[in-house]
Amino acid sequence: MYNQVTLHSSKMLREVLQGLEKEQKQLPSKYFYDERGSHLFEEITELDEYYLTRTEIDIMQSNMPDIIHTVGNDVVLMELGSGSSRKTRLLLDHLSCITAYIPVEISEQFLESVVQNLATGYPDLTVKPISTDYTQPFELPEINQQYSQLVVFYPGSTIGNFHPPEAKQFLNTVANLMEPNDAMLVGVDLKKDTDVLETAYNDQNGITAAFNKNILHHINRKLDGNFDSDNFKHHAFFNADEGRIEMHLIAQKDHTITVADEDFSFLKGESIHTENSYKYSVKEFKELVTPWFTVNEVWTDPNNYFSLQYLQRT
Ligand code: TRP
Repeated sequence: MYNQVTLHSSKMLREVLQGLEKEQKQLPSKYFYDERGSHLFEEITELDEYYLTRTEIDIMQSNMPDIIHTVGNDVVLMELGSGSSRKTRLLLDHLSCITAYIPVEISEQFLESVVQNLATGYPDLTVKPISTDYTQPFELPEINQQYSQLVVFYPGSTIGNFHPPEAKQFLNTVANLMEPNDAMLVGVDLKKDTDVLETAYNDQNGITAAFNKNILHHINRKLDGNFDSDNFKHHAFFNADEGRIEMHLIAQKDHTITVADEDFSFLKGESIHTENSYKYSVKEFKELVTPWFTVNEVWTDPNNYFSLQYLQRT
């Protein structure tokens, strides 16, 4: 256990120092998520301004018969990442004859609690959890029963948090687990009015700001840092050239901080880039996935804010 903890934080230390040494300082967004960060993220998904979660659930509910029909019977359902058990349950409640459910999740703790909860709600469901970083190649667990196809569920527009070349690498990794006709059910946030986009990442109550700043608290605690989060301001805006929401933390005055005995100076106005959230048009997303998948279905909401897409492995 002790070794594992030090190993993890030495990786974190390396990545954090590397990011802060860059001309445009940056931090890997995965470090938003300590326990407090995970709770703040849950709160984000319930905000009025944050249309994504609510809209994706609406799309699922409004199109359930069609989704069920498209996905089919006797499937193995694999879900990548966590924090979306509400959406998983929606599927589990409606799909008949699921052969097995495979949650893939990097946090062992989180995975354990998901598995336990499912066991109570779905006593007959075969669950085959995998604790791994799904962006790295991994193997499917052995499934002893017959099944019709593998369906990978990837909701929440998490694919938008990759740079497009990384998204392609990720799609390639997933496609390598699949046989022809296996499928992916993926949530993709769509391009839309800049105001709507920017409001979603700048909520009135400052939950997204607190979430963004939590990365500094996490670093202070884990890597013996001394960031003062009051010296930084949350800034999120739509970068139209890149087609993405960018999240930054902007220094409010000239100052120097320390992480693990290394000093880093900030000028007033200088930023740390903490997250990207790419938005795609239906056409752009189709082009992204085309080397591996055909887009068989695109379900959207009446405003065309969000899409749930059914991709079939070619
Ligand atoms: N994928 C979602 C999005 O981009 C959720 C998310 C990831 C998010 N990182 C975030 C939301 C940072 C707010 C802030 O919206």
